[in-house]
Amino acid sequence: MPGLGWGADYNPEQWPEHVWAEDVELMRRAGVNLVSVGIFSWARIEVSKGEYRFDWLDRVMDLLHAGGIRVDLATATAAPPPWLTAQYPEMLPVRADGVRFSHGSRQAYCPTSPIYRDRATALAGEMAAHYRDHPALAAWHVGNEYGCHIPKCYCDTCAASFREWLRARYTLDELNDAWSTAFWSQGYTDWAQILPPRVTPTFSNPGQLLDFDRFADDALLELFKAERDVLRMITPEVPITTNFMSYWSSDDMDCWKWAREVDFVSTDHYTRQDWPRRHIDLAMAADMTRGFAGGRPWLLMEHSTSAVNWQPRNIAKQPGEMRRHSFAHVAHGADGTLFFQWRQSRGGSERYHSAMVPHAGTETKVYREVCQVGDEYKRIAGVVGSTVDADVAVIYDYESRFALRQPAHPTSAFEYQQCVFDCYQALWQAGVMVDFVAPGQDLSKYKLVVVPALYAVRDAHAQLVADYVAGGGHVLMTYLSGVADEHSRVRLGGYPGAFRDVLGVWTEEFYPLHEGETVALDDGSAATVWTEHLHARGASVIASYLDGPLPGVPAVTRNEFGDGVAWYVACGLDESGFARTAESALAEAGITPMNSVVKSGVELVRRRGDVSWLFAVNHTDTDAEIAASGVEVLSGERVSGRLTVRAGDVVVLREEV
Ligand code: GAL
Repeated sequence: MPGLGWGADYNPEQWPEHVWAEDVELMRRAGVNLVSVGIFSWARIEVSKGEYRFDWLDRVMDLLHAGGIRVDLATATAAPPPWLTAQYPEMLPVRADGVRFSHGSRQAYCPTSPIYRDRATALAGEMAAHYRDHPALAAWHVGNEYGCHIPKCYCDTCAASFREWLRARYTLDELNDAWSTAFWSQGYTDWAQILPPRVTPTFSNPGQLLDFDRFADDALLELFKAERDVLRMITPEVPITTNFMSYWSSDDMDCWKWAREVDFVSTDHYTRQDWPRRHIDLAMAADMTRGFAGGRPWLLMEHSTSAVNWQPRNIAKQPGEMRRHSFAHVAHGADGTLFFQWRQSRGGSERYHSAMVPHAGTETKVYREVCQVGDEYKRIAGVVGSTVDADVAVIYDYESRFALRQPAHPTSAFEYQQCVFDCYQALWQAGVMVDFVAPGQDLSKYKLVVVPALYAVRDAHAQLVADYVAGGGHVLMTYLSGVADEHSRVRLGGYPGAFRDVLGVWTEEFYPLHEGETVALDDGSAATVWTEHLHARGASVIASYLDGPLPGVPAVTRNEFGDGVAWYVACGLDESGFARTAESALAEAGITPMNSVVKSGVELVRRRGDVSWLFAVNHTDTDAEIAASGVEVLSGERVSGRLTVRAGDVVVLREEV
């Protein structure tokens, strides 16, 4: 793309053809240059088995091309049509309790179904052969949000595939050992006895659950790869992506793994409008996506111009909020931001979901703001390709997330994503840039590595953290790290088994707290959710409990290990306590925060390419002053020394350095 991508999912099949020309005209007015087409068009393209109708889509593609708009063309496989599932009901997915889903919404397919795979790859091949030379074709969009509704299927086909997956990794003896099947008489004597974790009388086997999570994710990834490989053969030069889901509720797709298989990373992000700190969640999701992209720019494939349709109360965005969200994604490394969707649907379950063109038309807050941002994006086209630098990394681990969502842990009040957010929030408020890294990724370029609940950790990954600290690195780790191995079996000899030495502590027993219980610490902070009976063995004690079940026991520690330092937060520390600890760790690691205004809600992010770009997003309702010199690109004004960022506003500086 010559500039930042700007556009939406475009679903022309929902509208009579006379609307299409108006669509393209309104897109041009709004500066749209990229749309995703055909995501849910299977029924319209393949009307019965092997009978393809491209005439209507040809006209859409030609119209878009004539309007100078490029197309992220879907393979159209996200929603199999009723004729297909009616003919092959065995391709419909099955729940853990044996209920088979019906068609009538979307994503109604079993991930390992040979029929779905056959028909989906055939369709992808037809699409590629038909549109390979179309000048509007910019990229391929395979599927849509894999696993969004059906991350797992428990049918007999999946059971057979699961067994194959396991046989490629274990002997039967190894599997019995890894899954601790001596417990509750679960020992397997034949592969045929092994099932997906279907509904059981009580808790299922934790090792089985975790392996099924891995298998199910791999099964979806195989589907993606099957379509991708067909596309690559026919259009080797057209980049291929699929949209990840970097939002809170999505936790089945290991994006580290998926990111290795796409030509460029794209993601979707929806804010929870009932959440006052949604802009921090947005920043976290964007930084995470940049991590998946290996630091390279990425594309925001979907967010919303205003309300969605799937939250309990679908609150509209405030004037200016969509603009801030769009610029914040770009600030954190996106080379374009698209919406779901272009024109708000008239019917269907998403008819109350906002779009670039609302039901009420163009004389609206939403369309006006859309046109404004489309225009402003043209002025900052130069940011394309520039990158973001960070001194701090957060280790983000899907396997720990999978393991910790299982039942029968010391507390059900712990949520992995919340723990990651709490860590991230402290860093965001301190005004430092953050990269996300996978466990096992090289840490040497970072001054501080934050490790939230790295629970089900492999030996090699734990060793890497220890080596990093021994070599002079700084680590800030939270409770529930290092407790288990990659099969979710507890590491013995005192928690946190994998990190006792590097932290200079050992824990004899967990003391999770009652709902609503708060324990005071001697530095004025407090803990909820979690405490543990910790002993310092070499570490210095930074704070201890004053009351609660463990008065006098260390709650926060700091240990010198080799040439580095490892901090341990052994409890559910409150926001101010965690912020203080993070600030101490940052200062000791020699990290200077970008700007003190961040804490109040004015976000500062720098992207660097041939020149340096400073983005300031004021998420508050008061004006703020920042230190800045250069040209403010949106207004064209020259700035020397100080700049006022008005309440709710965004500025972008081409900096003089
Ligand atoms: C996404 C999906 C879109 C649309 C959107 C609504 O999950 O990819 O097709 O449904 O949500 O917010």
